[in-house]
Amino acid sequence: MTTFVSTASDSIISTSGIGARFKPFDHHGMYAFFERARVEEPVFFCPEINYWIVTTREGVLCLLRDAINFSADIALAPVTPLAPEALAILKAGMGAEPTQVNCDPPKHDRIRRVAGRFLNARRFLTLEPDIRRLAREAVGALEGRAEVDLVGDLVYEFPARVLFLLMGIPADDAPQIKRWASHRVLITFGDISPEEQRRGAEDMVAYWRYCVAMVNDRLRRPQSDYASFLIAHRGEVEPELSDNEISSLVFGLLLAGHESTTNLAANTLLALLGHRPSWQAICSDTSLIPGAVEEALRFSTSIVYWRRRTRAATVLQGVTIPANANVLLALGAANHDTELFPEPDHFDIRRPNASEHVSFGRGTHSCIGAPLARLELVVLLEEIVRRYPALALVDEQSIDYIRTIAFRGPKCLMACLGN
Ligand code: HEM
Repeated sequence: MTTFVSTASDSIISTSGIGARFKPFDHHGMYAFFERARVEEPVFFCPEINYWIVTTREGVLCLLRDAINFSADIALAPVTPLAPEALAILKAGMGAEPTQVNCDPPKHDRIRRVAGRFLNARRFLTLEPDIRRLAREAVGALEGRAEVDLVGDLVYEFPARVLFLLMGIPADDAPQIKRWASHRVLITFGDISPEEQRRGAEDMVAYWRYCVAMVNDRLRRPQSDYASFLIAHRGEVEPELSDNEISSLVFGLLLAGHESTTNLAANTLLALLGHRPSWQAICSDTSLIPGAVEEALRFSTSIVYWRRRTRAATVLQGVTIPANANVLLALGAANHDTELFPEPDHFDIRRPNASEHVSFGRGTHSCIGAPLARLELVVLLEEIVRRYPALALVDEQSIDYIRTIAFRGPKCLMACLGN
């Protein structure tokens, strides 16, 4: 049996080969590139971003499941070093501390224990009637239009509006929050200019202040939302959750809870409409929708890379990664690994093992909102196929993706409603 992970004292950084051809921010041709990488160099170094990339499902799972040897503290660090002006703005105005996705045990476990008592499948299910109402509103708003942008007109705000039900945020704040969130995505995962970084940093500070103000308000006037729950249950762990930890949790959720779902909804529609037999199948049998969502998560997930840092030098599939190195876990590549998924580039809504994708991570950090994301997608698709079974993509449009290292979704998806 081969030892998959071990520690080693020396390191070899290969900067030739596939790493030099890797385009980390460019999503075009990404899956074809992964296919070559898995065969030629399943673990490689990319000098452009100073990250090691792991492309096999086995390698990705190994890192996700091991919170001792691989730290998550790098998960939200800007991939592109920030210019001094943006850094100064963040240093002066940001107070968020690591609480979940970029926080290691034991602090992470202590915090997740409380957060998970609010964010869980049972509570999400109680939201189903509201989710359906919001989905109907979103679908109904398309009425009378011949051509629509399925991203901007349908899925852009819907997941945020669902999340706001949990967070007690007025629906009118959706456009502002979406703008802040997309700037936060770009500053953390993009390669934007110093001027865009400066604007993004100002927005992040405004976003953080919004969360702090919300928590301060709930400290005085508790409601039935996430922040109020955390305040009421803060004493169930030792030490109890601080005000700053609670604001940081709110800040984290206000991004995690909708950006990736918006992108997944767009990717799912693109896959289904781009493969007409699948679309027709879910129109005539809506019980196929949950399977279609699972296959969309595998086939074109909305978070294609996630990050870890090695604590010690590590041998992964015969390649030595040094200690304290940045590692990019190619979740999208793992989901197309032929070891588990035959014909991985074929979109098959009846694929029996689609749910073995790693799109929600695994292990201690696995996505706490996964049941909500699935529920939102299923309900939205049910409402769309019921109202617009003849929905079709506009011919010959070129798909442009947001330019980030983690989040993947089309910027725009033009479609005809068909009636
Ligand atoms: C399609 C939609 C979504 C995708 C693809 C997604 C994916 C992920 C991934 C890859 C992680 C990191 C796993 C790791 O580090 O091992 C994560 C963590 C997380 N997600 Fe999601 N997510 C989605 C929707 C949501 C929603 C709707 C919520 C909230 C309601 C949410 C809340 C979180 C939180 C709080 C974490 C941090 C968990 C922790 O570190 O304990 N996500 N998600």
